[in-house]
Amino acid sequence: MSEVHVEDHSSWIKTPQQLIVVVLLAFLIPVFGIVMIASFATGGLKVDSKNSDASAAAVAERLKPVGTVVIGEVPSPAAGAQPAGASPAVKSASGEPVKTAAAGGPGAGKKLYDTVCMACHAAGIAGAPKTGDKAAWKPRIATGKEALYNSALHGKNAMPPKGGSSAADADVKAAVDYMVSQAK
Ligand code: HEC
Repeated sequence: MSEVHVEDHSSWIKTPQQLIVVVLLAFLIPVFGIVMIASFATGGLKVDSKNSDASAAAVAERLKPVGTVVIGEVPSPAAGAQPAGASPAVKSASGEPVKTAAAGGPGAGKKLYDTVCMACHAAGIAGAPKTGDKAAWKPRIATGKEALYNSALHGKNAMPPKGGSSAADADVKAAVDYMVSQAK
C-alpha cells in the first residue's frame, strides 16, 4: 500500500487580503527605513542663523585662502597694521621714541623691500635680479645708483614703477639702497 505524500508547496499567502497586506508592507518598510536613515544622518545638522558660527562672516572667514598677497601698500604705523615683532612705539635706551619707518626714516628701505619688492626680488620672479645674488646685481650696480633709482621709480621691462606700489620716492630709493647693500 503506497501512500502518495503530497508535500504542501503552496505559500502561506492564502487569501487576497493577505496578499494585499504583504504587497503594502513590502512597499512601506523600505520607504520607512530610508526615511529613518536619512533623518538619522542629518539629525545633528541644525543650522541656526543666529548662531555666530553659521553667520556669513564666520563662514567667509573659514573659507578664506590661507594667505593673501598685498602689493603696493606699506602699512603705516598709524594704521595699526604693524608687522608682528615691530612694536608701535619703540623706545631707545634713553627713553626717546626711536624714529621707525616714517618716509625716509631709517629702516624705510628694508620695510618697503619686505612689503613690496620682496614679492619678486626674493625669488627672482619674472627675471628680477635676486636679492643677495652678487652676480646678478654686479652689472646693474655698475650702471650707477641713479640708473637703478630710475628703473625702480619708473619701471623697467617686467619691473613695475615703484614695484607697483605708491610708496614715496625716498622710500623706493631707500629700498634700492637696501637691495644694493645686500648684493655687496
Ligand atoms: C612685479 C615684480 C617686481 C616687484 C614687485 C619689484 N621688482 Fe624690481 N625688478 C623686477 C624685474 C623683473 C626686474 C628686472 C628688469 C630688467 O632688467 O629687465 C627688476 C629690476 C629691479 C632693479 C634693477 C634695475 C636696473 O636698472 O637694472 C631694481 C633697482 C629694482 N628692481 C628695485 C625694486 C624695488 C626697490 C622694488 C620695491 C619697491 C621692486 N624692485 C619691486 C620685478 C619686480
